[in-house]
Amino acid sequence: METVNLGLIGGGTVGGGVIRALRRNGSLMASRLGVTLTVRRVAVRSVAKHRDLGLPKGVLTDDWRAVVEDPEVQIVVELAGGTTTARDMVLAALRLGKPVVTANKALLSAHGPELFRTAAKHGTNLYYEASVAGGIPIIKVLRESLVGNRVLSLAGIVNGTCNYILTRMKLEGIEFSEVLAEAQRLGYAEAEPSLDVDGHDAAHKTGILASLAHGFWVDPKSIHTEGIRQISRLDIRFAAQLGYTIKLLGVIKTVPSKPAKSAKRKGSATLSDGPRIQVAVYPALVPNAHVLASVNHAFNAISVRGDIVGDTLFYGRGAGADATASSVLSDLADAALDLKHASIERVPCFVAHASTSRVIPMEEVVSRYYLRIEVVDQPGVFARISTLLAKAGIGISSIIQPEGHVGETVPVILMIHDAPNAAMQKALKLISRLNVVRAEPVLIRVETFE
Ligand code: NAP
Ligand code: HSE
Repeated sequence: METVNLGLIGGGTVGGGVIRALRRNGSLMASRLGVTLTVRRVAVRSVAKHRDLGLPKGVLTDDWRAVVEDPEVQIVVELAGGTTTARDMVLAALRLGKPVVTANKALLSAHGPELFRTAAKHGTNLYYEASVAGGIPIIKVLRESLVGNRVLSLAGIVNGTCNYILTRMKLEGIEFSEVLAEAQRLGYAEAEPSLDVDGHDAAHKTGILASLAHGFWVDPKSIHTEGIRQISRLDIRFAAQLGYTIKLLGVIKTVPSKPAKSAKRKGSATLSDGPRIQVAVYPALVPNAHVLASVNHAFNAISVRGDIVGDTLFYGRGAGADATASSVLSDLADAALDLKHASIERVPCFVAHASTSRVIPMEEVVSRYYLRIEVVDQPGVFARISTLLAKAGIGISSIIQPEGHVGETVPVILMIHDAPNAAMQKALKLISRLNVVRAEPVLIRVETFE
């Protein structure tokens, strides 16, 4: 049987998981693929560190170049993380015409176009299943299984840390800071948690999914990104009262085109004639009847609506050694089959085909909203707020105010009909300036999945 030699850069959580998974299921894969995958070299930062990987002597090195340049290494697996040296590692391997498998969403988000260009130039492939949603095979779904569909919308819980925090806030009625501190103590969340809780990790993943779904590389700067720090247990409780659960979502939607002013005359096509795509990450009220509302703890789930297939849902572990290793193994199978059949065309990793598509600015996006305003309980407060909203053309669909006492500060919850983000933000500024408003209002979008 043919053997394909692997060179891993990284023997930490994911790298270790891949080595153990290959030891466990390597022969099963060989019987399915007709190729034996062998770990030939593994680069780590510290060779002296104790790790229970059962590797033969001489496999570990602290020199990643020795792995990439080893003539026996046929596939390079980048599991080191980061965006600087990792970029050098991946480029060096691709320039040698070696296929690369990576789990590094931050790297793809920062340097995707350059990496895919380099792979194409050197006649090889860059695989990245493990970069989004750990063990969920969502990249393969978009690239292969749904190839006959236009993706109309995609909404995903793609950050396990945020989902864990929001789930515990809901189930136990505790505040964000309390859950975060505990998650850090238990080692679930990073000591510096902003990549997760401020939405950046979800934005990296959402950008990759949007690029694949829509055929143009989405500039990470164009992705509107909000995290979950501002969500309080009060919001979670009111949302529940209204029949919703708050989740951090990556949202990708095709937005109906506006007639372009400059394209009135026949044939005067402009950029705005192309599909307009919303790509964003924000906490949202999800109706309890929607499956995403019941995705709890560190699990991830992604719902994809295709124009032919309709609604589909993909669920699983979004992180961890085994789940992530499972996705790396899937990429290794594809890369090994490419080598076996001497073809890189079988599974194109990313094809840019939609040059007129563009991400629309968030101000143009129309949403429904939940708005919580802390106000002094006194006559005329509702009237002042609703007048400002009405002047902006924004309609209220329902109001809740828990019973309070005149003169006390009370929360007022407004559910707002569809409104453009720009109009909503403008109205919010005016509302927050009212002398009866006692804190920065909290605005959370409502996803209806219509
Ligand atoms: P990790 O546990 O910190 O492991 C990183 C590994 O890379 C370590 O073995 C480290 O060596 C090695 N390394 C770092 N810099 C190196 C260098 N310059 N030269 C050689 N080796 C180097 O990280 P991880 O959690 O496995 O994550 C790896 C990648 O997978 C990241 O891109 C991450 O975003 C992605 N990912 C992780 C998960 C997850 O659940 N952890 C899920 C999906 C995707 P030492 O062991 O000597 O320090
Ligand atoms: N930090 C990520 C999460 C795990 O919390 O989902 C790796 O993607």
